[in-house]
Amino acid sequence: MRSAAAFAPATVSNVAVGFDVLGFAVEAAGDEVALTLTEGESVRVVEVSDATGTLPDGAISLDPAQNTATVGLIKLLEDLRPGFGFDVRVRKGIALGSGMGGSAASAVAALVAANSLLKAPLPKESLLAYALAAERVACGASHPDNAAPSLFGGLTLIVSTDPLRCVRLPVPRGLLAVLVHPHVRVDTRDSRAVLRPHVPLADHVRQSARLAGLVAACFNDDFELMRACLEDVLIEPQRAALIPGFARVKAAALEAGALGASISGSGPSVFALANDEETAERARAAMVEVFRASGVAEVDSWVSHVSEEGAKVIR
Ligand code: HSE
Repeated sequence: MRSAAAFAPATVSNVAVGFDVLGFAVEAAGDEVALTLTEGESVRVVEVSDATGTLPDGAISLDPAQNTATVGLIKLLEDLRPGFGFDVRVRKGIALGSGMGGSAASAVAALVAANSLLKAPLPKESLLAYALAAERVACGASHPDNAAPSLFGGLTLIVSTDPLRCVRLPVPRGLLAVLVHPHVRVDTRDSRAVLRPHVPLADHVRQSARLAGLVAACFNDDFELMRACLEDVLIEPQRAALIPGFARVKAAALEAGALGASISGSGPSVFALANDEETAERARAAMVEVFRASGVAEVDSWVSHVSEEGAKVIR
């Protein structure tokens, strides 16, 4: 019986100023998906578990047409007709509704494992479209800013999805990400529903200047420019109310010396960037403390490099 398993990393998307177009992979956590080949071109979700064994029944759909690990696989089988199907086991290392790219990571891990079982594996780039189909089912929008960095690793700017054009940005040496996950669930679908569909022209101008500035900061190893650019005037103000204590958590990160802080993806996790370990650790501790003081009993936190490695086959 042929089988394969793959790991795909968690991601921080938007990165303050790149709503839906910028994200980076972190070493903090990731999802694993194991596939076993079956006869007949169908997909079955056999098991969904998490590291602590506390995933409540029904938390993740076992219907392959609704499960983010399997939506892309179904489409892959439809397109390629390889003459076999998959039994799928998902191990969530990324908490549900955490804003750390869990749905994308499950989709990407499944696709990378499946690809390794094909007689003629597709180039990695071709897998992204299948992962985006899963994102559409998960949250109603096929935003690529989690799936692309989870698949390719690094800090990834998605210039267009059709045709696919991604730019891997250089990560300034010494850059560290702080990621803090308060155990409050925010579903991406809901977090997108609060967003106004139109933006004021003046805000668009400010935000595009900052995104361009952030890209320039990456190419020039310019931490001071990065500090000036990590401020989201479009999305964060509309979502802040979904996260208990957000304004104070962000202020604590900045007071600790972080270059900037904002919502990770659609939240509730909050990330900060720092250019040395001492600052990153100080920001992490301060952010956790403020979340606790805001009434969130359980908080996970990490200090991580941007992970240069994307999804990979592990067995
Ligand atoms: N860019 C997406 C959003 C990421 O902010 O809605 C969701 O994880």
